[in-house]
Amino acid sequence: MVEEAATASVPTSAGGLGRGKSRALEFVALSGSAEGLPRRLSGISEFDRTTGGGLVPGGCTLIGGDPGIGKSTLVLQLVGRLSATFRTAYVSGEESVDQVRLRAHRLGLANAAVELAAATEVRDIAAAMDAPNGPQVVVIDSIQTMFVDTLDSAPGTVAQVRASAQVLIKIAKRRGISLLLVGHVTKEGLIAGPRVLEHMVDTVLYFEGERGHQFRILRSVKNRFGPTDEIGVFDMTGEGLAEVSNPSELFLAERRGDVSGTAVFAGIEGTRPVLVEIQALVGPAALGTARRAVVGWDSARLAMVLAVLEARCGVSIGSHDVYLNIAGGLRINEPAADLAVAAALISALSGEAVPPEAVIFGEIGLAGEVRSVGQSESRLKEAAKLGFTRAIIPSGRQGAGRRNVQGVAITEIDHLSKLVPLFGSDKSVQPLRAAKRNV
Ligand code: TYD
Ligand code: MG
Repeated sequence: MVEEAATASVPTSAGGLGRGKSRALEFVALSGSAEGLPRRLSGISEFDRTTGGGLVPGGCTLIGGDPGIGKSTLVLQLVGRLSATFRTAYVSGEESVDQVRLRAHRLGLANAAVELAAATEVRDIAAAMDAPNGPQVVVIDSIQTMFVDTLDSAPGTVAQVRASAQVLIKIAKRRGISLLLVGHVTKEGLIAGPRVLEHMVDTVLYFEGERGHQFRILRSVKNRFGPTDEIGVFDMTGEGLAEVSNPSELFLAERRGDVSGTAVFAGIEGTRPVLVEIQALVGPAALGTARRAVVGWDSARLAMVLAVLEARCGVSIGSHDVYLNIAGGLRINEPAADLAVAAALISALSGEAVPPEAVIFGEIGLAGEVRSVGQSESRLKEAAKLGFTRAIIPSGRQGAGRRNVQGVAITEIDHLSKLVPLFGSDKSVQPLRAAKRNV
């Protein structure tokens, strides 16, 4: 529970708005001239692509993420690069000037022309932004430490976070400043998370990754100036974040093709195809109830694939413990991963490896039918680029010519049961099917 003081009173008169003066709006036509927004590019192409082509003057970008994931590192590297072209300012509410300098030294940015300040009072920051010849790019790290002195509540509460952001966004819009707000995702209710700001800002990016892994993924979830679901991939090194321009290579780097229970999924993240390895482990349940554990995928979706395997293909897997993992710490949201997950599960059950030269994609319906998915061609092209020579894909109604990618032999399947014989011929899968039929 967070106490919030009541502020402005709501108009109560019969008319709703009271008696204030009003002037009717002047409407304009859609066809009028509109100036294209010149974008501010950082030169860090993973970031520029995720934002849909750079920062927009007057636009506000929110970067959310768990504490310690690397948000401050990312924004510092960003302003370091941007400062070569634009007047940039970095306002830290969490670290002292010395701490930020120390980090900048470590990142090799000691000589970047970034204006640095440690401050938390929005009034002062606003005045600095509004000054003549003020900054063109401003980073606030983090918005949860900022406070507006006209409100009684403590910094970090919903009221403070919203009010601070509102003031800063207003000035940014008026002065054409590209504003970047950092927000910590919080588990406790005491501090407001970045979600309370999502409706106010133009672009929402989340910086995510498993703490133990070195990969970090910047994902755009809302963008008024570009596509969403775009991702940027970074590698956290001793000298800060490094760009990963070919993520598939990275996600498949430690793959051992000859092991059962793994399958390579050809996915699409935003506008870019990304290949990832899906790993499954299946074993008889030790205690009465079977365990299900999923990392990087939707557990409800796994339950559905398991149910379809059991009900439509006669694969008896319900009494087994099932563990599923997306290698490399990526999180997949695409239904197109269903078929690859099913392949990993069947392979884990049978002990027979999925052909290591094959990529798999396709959505599975409740009747066991394999449904076609978008962008088959770019998935296949990426697979060919990385040396895969085989693909197991849905038999769609699209012209076959569009699916022909040089060097990739295609196996089309229309029902999940046709996947089982491909590498589930081992007796551990088959006799169960026979037994089921006899019952
Ligand atoms: P930080 O940017 O402070 O996280 P946030 O602002 O999201 O809370 O990053 C914290 C982690 O990043 C810290 O645990 C150490 C690691 N790190 C590196 O591995 N290499 C580096 O060069 C830097 C600056 C940080
Ligand atoms: Mg930080």
